[in-house]
Amino acid sequence: SISPVILCGGSGTRLWPLSRQSYPKQFNQLIGETSLFQQAALRLSDGENLFAPPMVLTGSDFRFIVSEQLDAIGIPPQDILIEPDARNTAPAVLAAALHLSASEPDAVMLVAPADHLIPDTAAFVASLKAGLKAVEAGQLVTFGIRPDRPETGFGYLQTATQPGADGAAVPLARFVEKPDLATAQEMIASGDYLWNSGIFLFRARDIIAAYETHAPELYSAVQAAVSDAHRDLSFVRLAPEAWSRIEDVSIDYAVMEKADNLSVVPFMAEWSDLGGWDAIWRHGAPDAAGVVENGQTTSIDCEDTLLRSDSPQVELVGIGLKNIVAVAMNDAVLVADKDRVQDVKIAVDRLKSKK
Ligand code: GDD
Ligand code: MG
Repeated sequence: SISPVILCGGSGTRLWPLSRQSYPKQFNQLIGETSLFQQAALRLSDGENLFAPPMVLTGSDFRFIVSEQLDAIGIPPQDILIEPDARNTAPAVLAAALHLSASEPDAVMLVAPADHLIPDTAAFVASLKAGLKAVEAGQLVTFGIRPDRPETGFGYLQTATQPGADGAAVPLARFVEKPDLATAQEMIASGDYLWNSGIFLFRARDIIAAYETHAPELYSAVQAAVSDAHRDLSFVRLAPEAWSRIEDVSIDYAVMEKADNLSVVPFMAEWSDLGGWDAIWRHGAPDAAGVVENGQTTSIDCEDTLLRSDSPQVELVGIGLKNIVAVAMNDAVLVADKDRVQDVKIAVDRLKSKK
């Protein structure tokens, strides 16, 4: 079976003011009746015994949110690993691999971000099955999305051979994490790149070997943090002293850009990283004028605009707006040009330094 490893320790700052330090976006009901984290857990339990119970990696502040949200959908976790501090995805994935392989040396793990929208679970499960073959051959398998714009916030996967119609994995020539705009434009124009979805499938021991080769210092620090971990019910607390020595780096930079045993399964169904308010607008089913709003709002002659109030006390009204994002909470309001919503991150940094 496949052991899902759900990463949900990110802070999701680009979705401020809905996403907060104390309650990041993956735990919010952004789209639909459940949180993105719950949707991920449900998706990874729906493969007719394909999946083992999920392992979840998060920060200490979120541990009860995680266990309550899993409880609410009836999915008991395998373990919840607690990172003493957020050190990005490279240490988290390695900690999961080491923890898992201690009890199950041949474990196959599926690393899945908690903040993605993947409505077609059957297509997703079919792609995973297609990836398993390459995994058995020792490959680190990525899932590629057909790109439609030169997005600089994603990784890019250059296929070594043209993917066939059968959806099987093909070898990767190159993995490029978050290129600049000019490079992204060239890659899109060349036609042989896919976006990296951020979902990975591999044997625990193969990814451990990749860290040993490409990130040896990180490897030894994470190994210490895992072997000195402290169990507390279903929570496994990674050792803080070793963890504090670990570099803050993503798995994409630390391992994927360097490894030479990568493959990609093209994933052709709908996928979205709900990374910013523009993505929420795009997936909120804009009406004929391009307006997306929720119940607490009124729009008059607006175009291509998102109006959203997440507070029952706040009625939000937009008049004559074009290409605007307006999000109201009880204690904070965002009003931004829809083409500038990536800069919400800058605003959050500035607010932090005010405090
Ligand atoms: N447990 C844990 N600890 N989870 C983390 C941490 C951490 O320190 N940092 C981030 N995460 C989680 C986030 O919550 C998210 O679910 C996932 O890991 C990915 O992190 P992001 O910060 O959202 O990465 P990204 O979007 O910039 O880039 C990645 O995803 C893109 C597609 O969405 C990369 O893999 C890109 O190559 C890829 O294109
Ligand atoms: Mg992301």
